Amino acid sequence: FRLTRQGFNFLALRELTNSKVIKSLGSVIGVGKESEVYSVEGEEDSLLCIKFHILGEQSFRQVKKKRDFHKRNDFLSRFELSRKSAEKEFLYLEKLYKKGFPVPQPIKNNRHAVVMEYIHGEPLYVRRKELRNPGKLYRECMDLIVQFAHLGLIHGDFNEFNLLLDEDGDGDLFYYDDWKLYVFDLPQVVSVRHENAEEYFDRDVDCIRIFFKKRFHYECDDYPQFKDVLGKRSPDPDHVNEDDDDVEDDHDDDAATIPLDDLRLENDDENDDCLDVES
Ligand SMILES: Nc1ncnc2c1ncn2[C@@H]1O[C@H](COP(=O)(O)OP(=O)(O)O)[C@@H](O)[C@H]1O
Ligand SMILES: [Mg+2]
Repeated sequence: FRLTRQGFNFLALRELTNSKVIKSLGSVIGVGKESEVYSVEGEEDSLLCIKFHILGEQSFRQVKKKRDFHKRNDFLSRFELSRKSAEKEFLYLEKLYKKGFPVPQPIKNNRHAVVMEYIHGEPLYVRRKELRNPGKLYRECMDLIVQFAHLGLIHGDFNEFNLLLDEDGDGDLFYYDDWKLYVFDLPQVVSVRHENAEEYFDRDVDCIRIFFKKRFHYECDDYPQFKDVLGKRSPDPDHVNEDDDDVEDDHDDDAATIPLDDLRLENDDENDDCLDVES
């Protein structure tokens, strides 16, 4: 399996190099639960990163157990899942980036790999020190969840591991409240019309509430409710309507219809804050 996976990585890298998307592979940035992320050098010396999607053994077994997802019980089936996951992430990065959402700029998708802008910054979960104004960051996070919903989408894994604060600016950006919040990790995005949409929405909201309470001792009774944000959706001319880009009609591919829980690893509760675990 390992060799085969390296083989697919190699094929993707070779094509991306031949088509002049990237020049060279850098170092590992992150190994997530379903990915390996490396820095890469793009053309004109730009710093990019490449995310290889790897839907692992364990989650694959769960998927198979619950539904006959792919009959071929071999590497290719897993690879197919990984490829779909990457395609889906690229698609949503494109749509969200185009709409001005704070996501990394997508550059190129090849097989199970997504090349995107490298975001310098500090993931929210490493922030141990007090924030001068946690309420401001809290509201930004909740606003982002609401903006996703207005677009017809739920992130589905919106938590401190997938939020990043960029390092531009001078001095202690947290002291001056001068950060830019980015969100990434999109393969599990679901439509607000998904049958469990409310549950996913509430879970995203809860992750933020719980994290802010534990880490920054910040609690707020004001948090978005699914029915409120849904009610506000269609009449707003600034937001996508259903014909525009069919943002939420792309959900019906296989990767998108795998229930979120099936794509998680079993040791989720090792993390005391949220459902997401990253090493
Ligand atoms: N565009 C990016 N710029 C900088 N770091 C990134 C970028 N994308 C991902 N990372 C890093 O890689 C880690 C894993 O990526 P993520 O998309 O969250 O995958 P996973 O599904 O495995 O959690 C992230 O936690 C983050 O630290
Ligand atoms: Mg992640």
